[in-house]
Amino acid sequence: MSLFNALPPEVSVYEVSPRDGLQNEAVTVPTTRKVRLIEALCASGLQRIEITSFVSPKWVPQLADGDEVAANAPRIDGVAFSALCPNGRGLERALAAEIEEVAVFISASETHNRKNVNKTVADTLAGFEEVIGPAVEQGLRVRGYVSTLWGCPYEGDVDPKEGLRIAKELLKQGCYQISLGDTIGVGTPVQTKAILDLFLAELAPEEVALHMHDTRGTALANIVVGLEEGVRTFDASVGGLGGCPYAPGAAGNVATEDLVYMLHGMGVKTGIDLEALVQAGRVAAAIVGHELSGKVHKAGVRSLSG
Ligand code: HMG
Ligand code: MG
Repeated sequence: MSLFNALPPEVSVYEVSPRDGLQNEAVTVPTTRKVRLIEALCASGLQRIEITSFVSPKWVPQLADGDEVAANAPRIDGVAFSALCPNGRGLERALAAEIEEVAVFISASETHNRKNVNKTVADTLAGFEEVIGPAVEQGLRVRGYVSTLWGCPYEGDVDPKEGLRIAKELLKQGCYQISLGDTIGVGTPVQTKAILDLFLAELAPEEVALHMHDTRGTALANIVVGLEEGVRTFDASVGGLGGCPYAPGAAGNVATEDLVYMLHGMGVKTGIDLEALVQAGRVAAAIVGHELSGKVHKAGVRSLSG
């Protein structure tokens, strides 16, 4: 079936700028400014926001204030807050913060995983037993990330079957959804189709999300493939803010404004007010003190003549 007969009426956008965006800023943004960004994101109608990480402050000092961010972020009915959580200590912090969701993360390639969390893939999966099951028992939803699926900054090509094996284990432990990460933004559409064909042969479409960094400008093209394949959740970062501190050269996720502009233009609803989202992108640029790479962020919703 052609894409244009199969477009969904709506999709879910999962915003990662306060986490994936800010973790990669050279300068640590003060807590009050992070909260201002989260407020602006909430005002745009976004319903799923990853607000921080509960990881080691030695590893990601930019997000060392995660507890304060969570305590001061505005709580709005219908908006679910999430945070990265690598271990039991992270889960304790998430429970104290009273957020709705945590996200565990692991790589499909050994070298990236070791550089990111100082463990093998096998030990990381075993360690999640102190996070995923206990979090679900405490009433939290748990999302899983599988990184470097499209390519690893240290190992090059990655076997997506290894990513699928890891994803199935995360689902078995209790994750409700696995976000497939093109951590360094190397993916192209035919590769994306091959990866999704593999995953969707064994996982339900609602169990799969796409997390595309836009390093080489192919994120939206890959997302169109995702739409066609039946994926209905897309991660994005306002203004294109971000990267990964343990993936050298990685740029931010697809800019949320670019994603929403494209989806709305195709008649796919998101529940997000694009003008308000553009304002949130301005807040993001102001709090980090530099221009961001997003296309709609730079050009506006319509050109002057449009
Ligand atoms: P480690 O050094 O191997 O283990 O770190 P550790 O247990 O010895 O911990 C080191 C210190 O951190 C200790 O403190 C712990 O108490 C403390 P010390 O005794 O030395 O004073 N610690 C913590 N503190 C607060 N909260 C915690 C916590 N855990 C330990 N939860 C560890 C192992 C996993 C902790 C570390 O490697 C880590 O935090 N890594 C996080 C790396 C990270 O956040 N990377 C970026 C996110 S992943 C990403 O961006 C990809 C993604 O976007 C998807 C994609 O793009 O593909 C998700
Ligand atoms: Mg990422």
